[in-house]
Amino acid sequence: MTWTNVSEVSGAATDSRQAPPHTFILFGATGDLAHRKLFPALYSLFVDKLLPDNFAVIGVARTDFDDNAFRQEVKSAVDKFSRTKMNEKAFTEFIQRFFYSKLDATNPEDFQKLKQRVEAVEHQFSLPEQRIFYLAMAPNFFGQVALNLKASGLSAASGWRRLIIEKPFGHDLQSAKVLNDELRQVFEEEEIYRIDHYLGKEMVQNIEVIRFANSIFEPLWNNRAIANVQITSSETVGVEDRASYYEKSGALRDMVQNHMLQMVMMVAMEPPSRLKMEAIRDEKVKVLRSLRRYTPDEVAQHVIRGQYDAGQINGKPVKAYRDEPNVSPSSTTETFVAARLYIDNFRWAGVPFYIRTGKHMAAKATEIVVQFRDMPKNLYFNRDGTLGPNLLVIRVNPQEGMYLQLNAKKPGTDETVVPVMMEFSQSLKNSPEAYERLLYDAMDGDSTFFTRWDEVSLAWKFVDPIADAFRSDSLPLHHYAAGTWGPRASDQLLMQDGFSWWPVYGQKLPANVKAEHTFGQSLER
Ligand code: BG6
Repeated sequence: MTWTNVSEVSGAATDSRQAPPHTFILFGATGDLAHRKLFPALYSLFVDKLLPDNFAVIGVARTDFDDNAFRQEVKSAVDKFSRTKMNEKAFTEFIQRFFYSKLDATNPEDFQKLKQRVEAVEHQFSLPEQRIFYLAMAPNFFGQVALNLKASGLSAASGWRRLIIEKPFGHDLQSAKVLNDELRQVFEEEEIYRIDHYLGKEMVQNIEVIRFANSIFEPLWNNRAIANVQITSSETVGVEDRASYYEKSGALRDMVQNHMLQMVMMVAMEPPSRLKMEAIRDEKVKVLRSLRRYTPDEVAQHVIRGQYDAGQINGKPVKAYRDEPNVSPSSTTETFVAARLYIDNFRWAGVPFYIRTGKHMAAKATEIVVQFRDMPKNLYFNRDGTLGPNLLVIRVNPQEGMYLQLNAKKPGTDETVVPVMMEFSQSLKNSPEAYERLLYDAMDGDSTFFTRWDEVSLAWKFVDPIADAFRSDSLPLHHYAAGTWGPRASDQLLMQDGFSWWPVYGQKLPANVKAEHTFGQSLER
């Protein structure tokens, strides 16, 4: 039995503030990220009137395009990937502001040509020298591009300048420091916007509001009331065509170092003194400072790594990771990580935070489950003699919303207790994409939902010993069939503490489990 209280919220941006005029210089303009995410995001911002009236986009890449060929590319990307339907009139206006400059990132002369182009466009539209440099390219070029921006004088804008970069930010602490030092020769920390697209997700941003705008949660948000926290980000896709990157990164660097830890921080942070970007980021960083770091010897007790074998995804057979193109047949790269984390501060002492993420799992879902402590078991039970705990489940993807699981009397019975859910879900249909929010914030100079250097470095300090343990094979590499929920060892990790993973959205339940006993399962699943 379920109480479902679903409110539909239209997700369209209501912010009527336009970003300030600027020139958006996009490196890697012919790449996948630009096509799938950035052009569609820019177009939606334009249609929603969040882009300034006066702006220009200069695409930069090695391909030999002219402005027209580039505009065609942008058009087909928007056509294919945009959530905002293409409107010929609006698009014609939008695309007139797009230009292209061919550039080899290692060639200083090309940066001189780019500078002339940028200045010409700024002159043509009377744009102030306010420049955003977005590096949607292989990270090994980041340092060099930044230094060339400086040498060419491009970064010396008379107005503001900002640098947006994508992860990965280094491969470990050491390489991240080298990269950061290079960037800092050109840009101030406040000018560097490190994207973690999970921070642009509606429900990840909503965690803060749910926690700090509801008086029913804050008194319970601690180790006296919470038994454990579970954060899952499972994917059905495999490594796809990214093996050359993924072989070196694995799930640990690809997902845990950034997205998973960001969600941990959002759940665990203290209330900020003000809703100002540095106040919020200060509180997030404190979580990482309190995060218990494992020595390579301790890793095996708290971390499970796995790799997918052949299996089935949506009824179709898929290959084992080791048989994927460009993957070594003896690869030990992990495609799955589960871990038990501890945040050793007053609020969270003793509460395990379980995280798990993997490729080729049974369903695509990102969810945060806060499991509250059990009631004393001397009054109410359901027929199995158990009483489910209260849960607060925050659904990030593919559903956006949350539900609170409570216990109530089954109607028509004397004492049968069943779990019921109060659910809030919002329509994804018109919800702005993570990249729209993040691009807008960067244009607006708000770096709240970007990663600060101290966060990056502390995240690496946590991850590096785990990566060392993986490299030295000091813990088993478990294999799991594609299309499952990862290795059994991940279930055992929670069983050691008397817990189990709560089913996430889209998870098929064992045939012998009745819907009313499947805490956390909505009947519509
Ligand atoms: C990216 C990772 O950062 O996040 C990918 O590099 C992963 O491997 C992706 O697939 C997951 O993002 P989302 O938004 O689909 O959960």
